[in-house]
Amino acid sequence: MVVKADAPRSVTILGSTGSVGTQTVDLVSRDPERFPVEALTANRNVTLLAQQARQLNARLAVVADTAAYAELKQLLSGTGIEVAAGSEAVAAAAERPADWVMAAIVGAAGLEPTLAAIRRGAIVAFANKEVLVCAGALMMEEVKAHGATLLPVDSEHSAIYQVFDFERTDSVSRLILTASGGPFRAKNRAFMAAATREQAVAHPTWDMGAKISVDSATMMNKGLELIEAHFLFGIPEERIDVLVHPQSVIHSLVEYVDGSVLAQLGTPDMRTPIAYALGWPARIATPAERLDLVKAATLTFEAPDPVRFPALRLARAALQSGGGAPTILSAANEVAVQAFLDRRIGFLDIERIVEETLTALPHRPLRDLAAVREADADARRDAAGRVAAIGATAVGSR
Ligand SMILES: NC(=O)c1ccc[n+]([C@@H]2O[C@H](COP(=O)([O-])OP(=O)(O)OC[C@H]3O[C@@H](n4cnc5c(N)ncnc54)[C@H](OP(=O)(O)O)[C@@H]3O)[C@@H](O)[C@H]2O)c1
Repeated sequence: MVVKADAPRSVTILGSTGSVGTQTVDLVSRDPERFPVEALTANRNVTLLAQQARQLNARLAVVADTAAYAELKQLLSGTGIEVAAGSEAVAAAAERPADWVMAAIVGAAGLEPTLAAIRRGAIVAFANKEVLVCAGALMMEEVKAHGATLLPVDSEHSAIYQVFDFERTDSVSRLILTASGGPFRAKNRAFMAAATREQAVAHPTWDMGAKISVDSATMMNKGLELIEAHFLFGIPEERIDVLVHPQSVIHSLVEYVDGSVLAQLGTPDMRTPIAYALGWPARIATPAERLDLVKAATLTFEAPDPVRFPALRLARAALQSGGGAPTILSAANEVAVQAFLDRRIGFLDIERIVEETLTALPHRPLRDLAAVREADADARRDAAGRVAAIGATAVGSR
């Protein structure tokens, strides 16, 4: 696809009310002539969705939760902005002819809309990592078949994308994903066993949505990213390393066969990788704080601790096992993280539920999307049963 660097680019934002979504809105709103908005979607936050739709003069606003439709319609009455509701309407929004689609829904709920954008050959800015974890090989086949462009938004994958030699992939020897280590990097297992929701979502360097913040605390986020990197860059699991780097200045690295290591650096501000995807192949200005290496002074690195953070091992095992194993891992994790956020289980129950679900269910090959949906549903059912069993043994107040 030939893309003219400075041409206007129409935009759809899936998950516009979330952490990545609002930062995308922030960037788009700085240049409305260049980035006219086709559609915005949310789950149920209609107040913010309506405000964004008015501000950006969107053509369409969609809420996934049908119970919120009447309120959204009322909030946008008299504006001429189309309104729709339901998960099919979210996927239909992605089918509308925007040049560029931000996939920033959280979890496997983003599968159908992301696929809808891919199937019409759009440029897809891809934040919604669970989609690639649950259906990686099939998604990449769809990208190829429909000539879509997938631009990673996760800061680590954006960093790799910026220094990866796609013309000579044989020259890449290793990917090195950096990890902040999360809020419990220096905590022991006894602390984690009693950790509250508030402690788990208090990320030291990034301000993110609740689910990814908990994933960072368990380090499952890095496990999901490892699987995401495998599918995006075609590098086998054993050549993807994880390096804990608490300052979050180096966003990831690529090692080449000659020993050269290339990296992308910046302050921890998601608007930088979002802007990279929004302007691609051109670069656009952002208000992100500039990196001052004198001020940063010391950058430190350590190996991840597999004993305190077993989630990385689980993700590696799922990727090695293949088939539906990553789908099961991600779905069980979604259920367990939500149960933790709802204070129904403890922090360490998350990894236990994921491991038990991965062990209990067969890792069948994923021939098509129906198989993905089945593996996802089975894992959710199994994990929900384990959550309920913990609830039945009274976890006390959390
Ligand atoms: N936050 C970051 O800095 C960051 C960085 C890298 C990657 N990511 C990835 O980007 C994705 C989004 O993360 P986030 O932190 O922005 O999440 P978030 O703040 O929780 O936002 C999620 C967005 O998805 C919508 N949504 C939730 N469930 C939905 C459903 N069932 N159907 C349709 N829409 C739904 C939400 O709508 P409501 O507001 O109405 O609930 C919201 O707009 C995740 O996959 C995450 O791993 C995030």
